Amino acid sequence: MVRLRSSLWFDDPSNPGMTALYLERYLNFGMTRKELQSGRPIIGIAQTGSDLAPCNRHHLELAHRVRDGIREAGGVAFEFPVHTIQETGKRPTAALDRNLAYLGLVEVLYGYPLDGVVLTTGCDKTTPAVLMAAATVNIPAIVLSGGPMNNGWWKGRRTGSGTIVWEARLKHAAGEISYDEFMDIVASSAPSVGHCNTMGTALTMNSLAEVLGMSLPGCAAIPATYRERGQMAFDTGKRIVDMVRENLKPSDILTRAAFENAIVANTAIGGSSNAAVHINAIARHAGISLDIIDWERLGYDVPLLVDLQPAGRFLGEEFYRAGGVPAVLNELLGAEKLHADARTVTGTTVGENCKGRVSEDREVIRAFENPIMPSAGFIVLRGNLFDSAIMKTSVISQEFRSRYLSDQDDPDAFEGRAIVFEGPEDYHHSINDPSLNIDMHCILFIRGTGPIGYPGSAEVVNMQPPDTLIRQGITSLPCIGDGRQSGTSGSPSILHASPEAAAGGGLAVLRTGDRVRIDLGRRTANILISEEELRSRRENAPIPQIKPSQTPWQELYRRTVGQLETGACADFATDYIDIIARHGEP
Ligand code: FES
Ligand code: MG
Repeated sequence: MVRLRSSLWFDDPSNPGMTALYLERYLNFGMTRKELQSGRPIIGIAQTGSDLAPCNRHHLELAHRVRDGIREAGGVAFEFPVHTIQETGKRPTAALDRNLAYLGLVEVLYGYPLDGVVLTTGCDKTTPAVLMAAATVNIPAIVLSGGPMNNGWWKGRRTGSGTIVWEARLKHAAGEISYDEFMDIVASSAPSVGHCNTMGTALTMNSLAEVLGMSLPGCAAIPATYRERGQMAFDTGKRIVDMVRENLKPSDILTRAAFENAIVANTAIGGSSNAAVHINAIARHAGISLDIIDWERLGYDVPLLVDLQPAGRFLGEEFYRAGGVPAVLNELLGAEKLHADARTVTGTTVGENCKGRVSEDREVIRAFENPIMPSAGFIVLRGNLFDSAIMKTSVISQEFRSRYLSDQDDPDAFEGRAIVFEGPEDYHHSINDPSLNIDMHCILFIRGTGPIGYPGSAEVVNMQPPDTLIRQGITSLPCIGDGRQSGTSGSPSILHASPEAAAGGGLAVLRTGDRVRIDLGRRTANILISEEELRSRRENAPIPQIKPSQTPWQELYRRTVGQLETGACADFATDYIDIIARHGEP
């Protein structure tokens, strides 16, 4: 049997003084000395739910079921809070908090007597934050997703989280609906506890946690309100205790093969563009080298199989009924697109867990041979505007294709006049300014929205055209920026331009009125100016003005953060891999 790490705190006969000190307070809430000293695994429940985090709040209830499972299997549960993150409520942006929650959780996992941990996940950044920490500390860890909300409905139509906001905003801007109707439509998309029910960043990251092998098969898709969600919580609690006994650690699961599987699966599910940032960050903290180009190399030529909003039609409940992640992986395994031998928290492999889990609804999870789109992954662009930026091709609409990609000679390229905004405030203030003369041949740029610039990097790149164009039926223009966009947005924007303007990237020298050429076939994005002009602009580029930090963490975040291309990690922290193995116990 493995010697439990918690015994270094609770059961060290050579040091009775410290053992007594470590033990005494924990005896105050129901646990006896015998329990804590009997070799029962001590299991943390990393609680991401709170009143401020409604997407994860349901975990406050689910934790009771997790505890039951832990106790059933002979473990002892300790629940503790993780720094709260809520995507839509946090200002200036929740992206700031991912690295903070990560750092906080690393301290807790390393510094307290825990043998294993249940990672509760849900809202966008909660999933990568806890996985990054589990990878860094490398104690046995298992993910419990909170599950998507029930489907939203409005007048007989599905209303999906976030996605409906983009649609309703256009209707409101066009004067088709009132302010009150706008509010009611948006509220209809959040009918229950749970996280976003679209394939936004939340459902994407929970699905990919399952693909990585870090949750029990079938965990991600179960809606938050369903009976099966509570059962999954119980089973997850049970399983982590045995994982401790088997000494099955994140480093056994988070291998290069697992990350390659995640990239492939992300295309098949129509996953969020934010996945590239978070998966690359988790990989770095696990000590696996993953490059942004891997997303195109491994992920582009994979079909879109899941018909969920924003790339498709359905929502979380249908995804679950059709079989969820295991049914998607079954299709990909059949086509030999995955590493079937990648290990998972079950102790068995992805292949063993998912082979034969046939889709129960071919409308929602398609057969590999009959996809919604054949090559649906991200492409990675480069040029004098940036070293890398990504574009999610599964959301390029017919309207966009016929307007911008219909040139007979070069059907993958388009040119336009640049309109440049200095961040979201400038965009909101200026987009309807008639002097900008924005027409359908313009490309909207936003800069100052990367990890350093905003700070955290804002989900603002998908910009709505001016109201005058919307009234003429032009509902989207090409958008490019150094920030991100919400995973619930169906906009084919060019995102995550790295380096960002605030770090001296090419976007910093762009001027409103410049001609820009985007060639999706050649994967290039360039300002059409001479080399001399470019050089002189670079030499004379004004130092980009960034807003002063408003909080101490913003300041520290800016000093330590890397670019979106490499996961926007606190760069210094990526030197701390498997810290127990490297540095021993605290
Ligand atoms: Fe929290 Fe979407 S806003 S899951
Ligand atoms: Mg988001």
